Amino acid sequence: MASLDPSGRLTAVFLVVSLSFSFQGAHCKLVVAPVGPTWVNARAGSNVTLAFLFSGAPDPVVTWFKGALPVLTWTIGSSAAPDIGEKYKEVLKIEKDGSLTFVNVQLDHAGNYTMELTKSGLAKAETAFTLNVFENIQNVELTVQPDLLKEGIDRFLLQYRVLRGEVEQQRWLFNGTEIKTSSHYTVKDRSLEILNPNRTDTGRYTVVLKNPLGRVEAHRNITVLYGPDEPRLEARPAKPFYVPGDSLSLVCQAGGSPRPTATWVFGDLTFPDSQDGVLNRTNVQISQGGVYTCKLTNQQTKEQRQKSMILNVYEKPSGDPICSVQSVNVNAALQYHCQWPGGTPLAQLSFPELSNSSSGAGNFSLTVTALANLNWKTVTCMAVHPVEQNKCNITASRPVEFLPTVRTSIDSQGKIVVAVQCVSDASPQAVVSWSKGSEAVANGGTHKISSDTTQLKIRGYNVSNFVQQKYSCTCRNPLGSQRREIQLQGPSISDFSLFPNPEGTIVTLTWEVLPTSIVTGFDIQVKGPNLPSEKRNGTESRGASDGYRTIQRKPGSARSADVLALDPNLSYRFRVIPRARMTEGEPSEVHRLGPGEGLSGPAIAGIAAGIPCSLLFLVLLGGSIYLCVKCNMDKSRPARYPVSRAAEKVKITDISRMARPAVITTQSEMTPHHLLTGGLKSPPDYNKLQQTPSERSVALPTFVPPPPVRVATTV
Ligand SMILES: *[C@@H]1O[C@H](CO)[C@@H](O)[C@H](O)[C@H]1NC(C)=O
Ligand SMILES: *[C@@H]1O[C@H](CO)[C@@H](O)[C@H](O)[C@H]1NC(C)=O
Ligand SMILES: *[C@@H]1O[C@H](CO)[C@@H](O)[C@H](O)[C@H]1NC(C)=O
Ligand SMILES: *[C@@H]1O[C@H](CO)[C@@H](O)[C@H](O)[C@H]1NC(C)=O
Ligand SMILES: *[C@@H]1O[C@H](CO)[C@@H](O)[C@H](O)[C@H]1NC(C)=O
Ligand SMILES: *[C@@H]1O[C@H](CO)[C@@H](O)[C@H](O)[C@H]1NC(C)=O
Ligand SMILES: *[C@@H]1O[C@H](CO)[C@@H](O)[C@H](O)[C@H]1NC(C)=O
Repeated sequence: MASLDPSGRLTAVFLVVSLSFSFQGAHCKLVVAPVGPTWVNARAGSNVTLAFLFSGAPDPVVTWFKGALPVLTWTIGSSAAPDIGEKYKEVLKIEKDGSLTFVNVQLDHAGNYTMELTKSGLAKAETAFTLNVFENIQNVELTVQPDLLKEGIDRFLLQYRVLRGEVEQQRWLFNGTEIKTSSHYTVKDRSLEILNPNRTDTGRYTVVLKNPLGRVEAHRNITVLYGPDEPRLEARPAKPFYVPGDSLSLVCQAGGSPRPTATWVFGDLTFPDSQDGVLNRTNVQISQGGVYTCKLTNQQTKEQRQKSMILNVYEKPSGDPICSVQSVNVNAALQYHCQWPGGTPLAQLSFPELSNSSSGAGNFSLTVTALANLNWKTVTCMAVHPVEQNKCNITASRPVEFLPTVRTSIDSQGKIVVAVQCVSDASPQAVVSWSKGSEAVANGGTHKISSDTTQLKIRGYNVSNFVQQKYSCTCRNPLGSQRREIQLQGPSISDFSLFPNPEGTIVTLTWEVLPTSIVTGFDIQVKGPNLPSEKRNGTESRGASDGYRTIQRKPGSARSADVLALDPNLSYRFRVIPRARMTEGEPSEVHRLGPGEGLSGPAIAGIAAGIPCSLLFLVLLGGSIYLCVKCNMDKSRPARYPVSRAAEKVKITDISRMARPAVITTQSEMTPHHLLTGGLKSPPDYNKLQQTPSERSVALPTFVPPPPVRVATTV
C-alpha cells in the first residue's frame, strides 16, 4: 500500500522539477508533492510509508501532524534523532527524505496526516495524507429475527455481525441472485429486511462483505413455515359409494412446512395421528358411513385446519318392491301404493305413468281419480336405489262377472243358516253391497254380513223364510261394479243316478243339488225287501214292500251314498229325499234295481256288459224308426231329449216310476257347484236356473217299453 510505485515517483519528480522552474524568478520557494496517492489503505500490522518529494531549499525542517497534533519533527539530513511524540516512539520512523513510515500499523493510527516543510526565510509547504488501517473481516455471523418464520408475519430481518474487520461494502444474495431494495426487500445498514414473507422466501441467503483487504461471505438457510394448506380428501379406490364389506382408504393430504400431521375424526371416534393421513377401513359397514373430518396441524406453527368428506356406504332394501292399489273412496279415487322399505338410503319410488312430479322415499302413495283408462292398465312403480334399480307392477281392474255360491248349514240353535257369497275378482278388492228385493240389507236381525262384505248369512227356522226371496249382491270398486241376483229355492235333487257293482250286491247312488237350493241333508230311501242292516235295527216289523223306508241319512254336503249287502236276486227301488231341516223337498226320481221277470241278474249283467250288440242295434233301429215316424207326424212340436253326461254310463231304470212328475234335469243346464266360484268366462245365465221344475223337466225318451219289462238303455 505504502510502497511508491516508479510511475508515482516519476510523477512526483516531474512535478517538483517543473514547480521549482516556475518559481525560479521568485527565488528559493519550497515545493512538495506526495509520491503516490494521498489516500492510503493499510492492513493492520503491516509497515506503511507516507512518502513525498520536495525542492526549493536544502535541509528543511519536516513536521508531521495527526490532525492538528504534531507527532514527529526532524531536520532532513541532520544527524540528530527525530523528535517523536511519546505515544508514537515504537511506531513511527523517519526516512532520509523525510517520509514517514509506520511500523506494525494499528487501527487507531488511521487518520488525516499533514506534513509541513519549513525553512527559515521561506514560505512553508505542506501536503496531506489520509491513512486508513484495515483488519481482515473475520467471524461473520448472520442472525434472523423473529425466531419463528411463517407466512403471514409482517417481515423478518437478516442481520450480520463481524467480530473483527471493517466492512466497506455489503451485498445480499438469495439463492445466488443479488437482492436489490424493492417492495419486498429493504437492504439496510448491516441487515436485510424481507417484507410479507411467504414460502417462496425459503432458501439460501448470502451476505457478501468487502473491505479493501478482501471479501467474506456468510450463508444462512432460511425456511418460511406455512400450512396446513387447503386439504385434499379422497377415498381410494374412488367410488360414488361403497357397499358393506368393501375395503377402502381415506386419504387426507395438505401442503405445509413442516408437513402437517393429520387426524381423522368420525363421530366420537378419533383415529391416531398419522403422517401420511391415511385411514384404512376394511370390511366397511353401514354404520361407518357418514361424515369424516380430517384435522391437520402444523406442529411447529400450531396452525390448524380441517375439512370433512362424506363416506357413502349404501345397502339396498331387502327383497323386492311391493305394489298395491286401494280404494280411497269407493266411487272416486284409487290410491296406488309402492313400498320398498329399508336400505340405506331409502329407495326413491315413483309411478311415471301416473305422475312425473311426485315421488317418495321407501314408501310412496299416489292418489289419482279413477278414470276408465286405468282399468286393466299395468302401472309400474320405478324403485331407484343407488345399488339397484327395481320395479313392481300393479294393475287395477273393475269387478269381473261372477257367480254367487250358496251354502247351507244348521247352527247350534237349530236354525238354518244360508251363506251366500259373492266374490268378484277386482283390484282393489270389491266391496259388496247386499239387497233384498229393493231394500238394502243391513247387518243385524236375521242377516249378517261378513267383515269383508263378500258373504251374507241368513238365518231362519223355516225354509219358507228363504224361498222365493230375491237377494242381490253388487260388487263395486272405484273402477266399476257387477250385480247378481240370487233367488233361493227349497230343497231339491237333480240328476239322480245309480251304479251297481257287477255282482249286484252293492249300489252307489249319486245326485246333484241345484246351486240355489237350500238343503241341509238327504234321506236315502228304499222300497222292497228288507236289507240286512234294517234287520239289525229291528225295523223288520214293517211290511217288506209296503212303502219307502229311510235307510240312511246324509248331511247336506253329501252327493253320494253306498248301499251294501243287496241280494242280487231281489229287486229294490231307491230314491232320495232332500231336506231343509224339517222340511222335505220333492223326492228324486226312483231307480229300480234287481232282476226283471224272466231275466236273471247275470243275464242283465251280460246284457249290460255288451253282449247284446244285436239287441242294442235292434233297439236303436226300432227307436230311430219310431223317432222318424214321430218326427214326421209331429213336426211342429220340437223333440226334447235329455243330453247324456257320460255316454258309457249304463242306466237301469224302472221306467214305470217315470210317470210321476218328478224331475230329470238336462245336463246342459246343470252347473256343478264347484265351478261357480271359478269362472271368469261368461257364466251360464244364472237366473235361468230359477225356472220352476216343471219348466225345466223334460219329457222322457219316448221309447217306452211296456212295464215291467226291464231294459238297459244307454243314455
Ligand atoms: C517492518 O519494519 C521492521 C523494522 O524495520 C521490520 O523488522 C519488519 O520485518 C517489517 N515488517 C514487515 C511486514 O515488512
Ligand atoms: C480527514 O480529512 C477529510 C477531508 O480531507 C475529512 O473528510 C475527514 O473527516 C478527516 N478525518 C479525520 C479523522 O479527521
Ligand atoms: C443450506 O442449503 C444448501 C442447499 O440449498 C445446502 O447445501 C447446505 O448444506 C445448507 N446448509 C445448512 C446449514 O443447512
Ligand atoms: C392401508 O392400506 C394400504 C393398502 O391398502 C397399506 O399399504 C397401508 O399400509 C395401510 N395403512 C395402515 C395404517 O394400515
Ligand atoms: C312422465 O315422463 C315420461 C317420459 O318423459 C312420459 O312418457 C310420461 O308420459 C310422463 N308421465 C306423465 C304422467 O306425464
Ligand atoms: C311390469 O310390466 C312391464 C310391461 O307392462 C313388463 O315388461 C315387466 O316385466 C313387468 N315387471 C314385473 C316385475 O312384472
Ligand atoms: C213354515 O212357514 C210356513 C209359511 O210361513 C208355515 O205355513 C209353516 O207352518 C211353517 N213351518 C214351521 C215348522 O214353522
